[in-house]
Amino acid sequence: MKSLTVATIQTHPVFGHVEENIEAALEFIPDDCDLAVLPELFSTGYQFRDKTEAMGLAEELTGNAETGAATKRLTRAASESGTTIVAGLAEKDGDRLFNSSVLFRPDGSREIYRKVHLFMDEKSIFTPGDLGFPVFEACGTTIGMMICFDWIFPEAARSLALAGAEIICHPSNLLLPWCQAAMVTRCQENMVHAVTSNRVGTENRTGTTDLGNSATEMIGGELVFSGRSQIVEPQGNILSSLNATETGVAVATIQIVEKDKQFTQRNNLFEDRRPELYWS
Ligand code: ACM
Repeated sequence: MKSLTVATIQTHPVFGHVEENIEAALEFIPDDCDLAVLPELFSTGYQFRDKTEAMGLAEELTGNAETGAATKRLTRAASESGTTIVAGLAEKDGDRLFNSSVLFRPDGSREIYRKVHLFMDEKSIFTPGDLGFPVFEACGTTIGMMICFDWIFPEAARSLALAGAEIICHPSNLLLPWCQAAMVTRCQENMVHAVTSNRVGTENRTGTTDLGNSATEMIGGELVFSGRSQIVEPQGNILSSLNATETGVAVATIQIVEKDKQFTQRNNLFEDRRPELYWS
C-alpha cells in the first residue's frame, strides 16, 4: 500500500493572460504534495475565436523545439517542489493543434496525452488526440490522463484502468453539470482514484454557444464553468472538493492498493468482463 498526497487546483484563468494564469495556479500548489492537477487549458483560457488565435498561444511539447512559457515554468516548479504536476495546455505540432494534458516529473521529464473526444467548437480548433490512452509511471504509481469531456465516454477511463492506471488525472473546463457525479461512477466501475480539476468563471468570446439540444438552455450564450473540482477514491467517496465559484486547492491523502480489482470474494472487475459479448 502506498500513501500519496494529491491536490486538485481550481483556478479562474483570464483569457490570454498566460503569465498571470500560470503564477496564479502555481500559488495553490501546497508544500509536501506528491501530485498536483491543474485545469484544462489553464494558462491560455478556453474559448479561442479561431485556430490562428489558438496557434499564437499554443506551445510545442515534442521534439527539440524551444518550449513555451507554461512548459518552462511547470518544469521548474516540479523540480523545485518535488511535486509531479499535471496541467492542460494548448499544444502545437507543425500545423496541428491539440488540446493536451502534460505530466511534469520533478526530474525534468514530461509525458503527454492529447484529448481524444473534442467538445463542441473545440472541433473547429483542435485535431482529435492521436496517442490513445497511455499510462505513465510517476510519483511511485501509475498515472493516466483524460481531459474534460472524455468523462462522458466510459471507454476513456476503462482504457486507462485496463492499462494499469491507479490515478486518473482529469484537467477540465466543465460546462455541463453531470461530470462530477459521473466521475464517482468511473472510479467505482474501474476501482481507480480520479482527480478532476476544473476552472470557474465565465467566457463569452464568440457570442454564441448553441449546443443544439436541451444543454443549450443550461449553458446559453455565455460559457459558465462549473468548478466543483474533486478527488474521488475507488469506492466512490469524494475525499476533498471545492465549490462552484471559489478558486483554491483541495487536498487528500490517498492509499493506493496496486492492481487490486477484486470487487467481492467472487468478483474480479477485469477477469469477470465478457468482451466477446459486448458491442464495440
Ligand atoms: C470540455 O470538454 N471542456 C467541455
